Amino acid sequence: MKDNNCEGAASAGPRLRPLGNLTGGMRGELKRYRIAVIEGDGIGREVVPEGIRVLEAAARRFDLSFSWHHFDWSCQTYLQTGRMMPEDGLEQLRPHDGVYLGAVGYPGVPDHVSLWGLLIPIRRGFKEYVNLRPVRLLEGITSPLSGRKAGEIDFVIVRENSEGEYSEVGGRMNRNTESDMAIQEVIFTRSACDRIITYAFELARTRRKHVTSATKSNGIVYTMPFWDERFAVISKQYPDVRADQFHIDILTAHFVAHPDWFDVVVGSNLFGDILSDLGAAVVGSMGLTPSANLNPEREYPSLFEPVHGSAPDIAGKGIANPVAQIWSGAMMLEHLGEKEAARAVERAIFKVLAHSNVRTRDIGGNASTRDMGELIAAEVAAGAGMPIS
Ligand code: NAI
Ligand code: MG
Repeated sequence: MKDNNCEGAASAGPRLRPLGNLTGGMRGELKRYRIAVIEGDGIGREVVPEGIRVLEAAARRFDLSFSWHHFDWSCQTYLQTGRMMPEDGLEQLRPHDGVYLGAVGYPGVPDHVSLWGLLIPIRRGFKEYVNLRPVRLLEGITSPLSGRKAGEIDFVIVRENSEGEYSEVGGRMNRNTESDMAIQEVIFTRSACDRIITYAFELARTRRKHVTSATKSNGIVYTMPFWDERFAVISKQYPDVRADQFHIDILTAHFVAHPDWFDVVVGSNLFGDILSDLGAAVVGSMGLTPSANLNPEREYPSLFEPVHGSAPDIAGKGIANPVAQIWSGAMMLEHLGEKEAARAVERAIFKVLAHSNVRTRDIGGNASTRDMGELIAAEVAAGAGMPIS
């Protein structure tokens, strides 16, 4: 573990000038947070330093202090040691207030080995059963869906993050023979269904009071009708919230044809995962959508990471969009109770996307990852930027 206290990439300060200037925050007592950082693989190593740069700018403005504890766990580590993280990895992460992760997975290590060796054990071990993934079309971003304007697409995917299709129950037999076979079980428990569906309804109460359930109870004959049953039971407890459901096949079509229909969309592990990348695509880029893996009871640290992966196709070029990572940092601030700082980071992101031509290739510019990170950090530092209405 490399221990650095507010140093490194984040300490260099902004190179670019902010777009505007308002007064900064009040100086007061310093609140301290210990954050575990796992850059991981590929573009994770490029976008995480930008996230830290922006969070450092927020810390300076809002009288917070971060100590960043770097864990060099990745596919490289796997190739050297045979493990993605040490056996006591979770114990090492446990004392932190949050985990800030880039992405894991790289050619040379099978994807199920990298994911099941690091990210999934953290999500499960720390009971991060909510995977929260906001999807918003922002000003300055062109959706591939023609005619869609900023604000028209604004929903949150609530993905079940502890069981479902991503289970370890099953097996292989007769490997490398003609009778080779694989069995994979899907696990849906009442407690996990109820807690994620309840979370979705509670969230909807703070938004536009509408929950949509992703199902496939026509084809998947046991687990999905069970999911529908639990959705019906929980929805009765929220008469003030509109509830509807779609089979996943037509739901993907509605995401494209009618993304404005949705407010909170709740789905199983696999459905939530697939809908998240589709959501990112309809709001312009994989580089724009953040996520939080939450342990709502706060018994364990929660983990904040972009929806995207390690993008080996663009890794090492310095052109990845850092917004998803930076926005995930804002979600971490929110979870830590630093709402004002979270809003400031979001406003800085929104302002840069709306008014600056400093933008990465995926959203039509030619700026570097670092250029965008620095400009957003400068915006946070300056306290400029009005919320996009
Ligand atoms: P991916 O999300 O890494 O990339 C998909 C496409 O989106 C690529 O064309 C990539 O260049 C683009 N993209 C992604 N993030 C971008 C960004 N910030 N800026 C600009 N363009 C961006 O998904 P893919 O290709 O399926 O997976 C690559 C690796 O990442 C695999 O090893 C996979 O297992 C892993 N992965 C890890 C995740 C995690 O750590 N949470 C999540 C998804 C995939
Ligand atoms: Mg995914």
